[in-house]
Amino acid sequence: MKVAVSFIKSLYDEKKTIELIDSTSADYIHVDIMDGEFVSTKNYDFSDIKAFMEGINKLLDVHLMVRHPLDYIKDYASLNTKQIIFHAEADEDIYETINKIHSYGIKAGLAINPDTPVEQIEKYLDLVDTVLVMSVYPGKGGQKFIPESSDKIKELNNYSDFLIEVDGGVNKDTIDLTIGADMVVSGSYVCESQDYEKAIESLRN
Ligand code: DX5
Ligand code: ZN
Repeated sequence: MKVAVSFIKSLYDEKKTIELIDSTSADYIHVDIMDGEFVSTKNYDFSDIKAFMEGINKLLDVHLMVRHPLDYIKDYASLNTKQIIFHAEADEDIYETINKIHSYGIKAGLAINPDTPVEQIEKYLDLVDTVLVMSVYPGKGGQKFIPESSDKIKELNNYSDFLIEVDGGVNKDTIDLTIGADMVVSGSYVCESQDYEKAIESLRN
């Protein structure tokens, strides 16, 4: 099980949080971007993220919770980015968005909200590298894992050729509900702990 760590809810400021994550065995830093339209909160500008990532070694897993993901891809592709994830519910052509991400040699992930059925994205499953199952409604860290997300992970396992990532409310008590996933995102559970590495290890075991 791979682990990506989100830094939006932490005991420390972003810079210190990201440095602490960088010193752990986490597979990726998960970068949550909110535009104030697709979700009610607006958080960082690209210039903020660029400054946070100076001197950071880990690869980025960028999660665009935005209405117009096409506008963000060029910027985020210029960082040390492994994957860019956008939402099936956004106002953008899904084929065009996947192609644009791939044109930078970056993996493309398609996220679905808890109330979006797998059938709605079936025709894109051959094209994406990852499906991100949201196990909370997007918009903030520290929410409770929605148990029905487990059924969606099982359903996605009937298909092949893409990875399954789960995001929201993942901690040592809910990790068993993510069985069948290849990667989890954990935010507050890791970043509000005293020992990031110990928290990450507890998700892997
Ligand atoms: C939710 C974000 C998640 C979130 C994860 O809007 O996409 O990545 O920050 O944080 P926790 O683990 O606290 O739910
Ligand atoms: Zn996220």
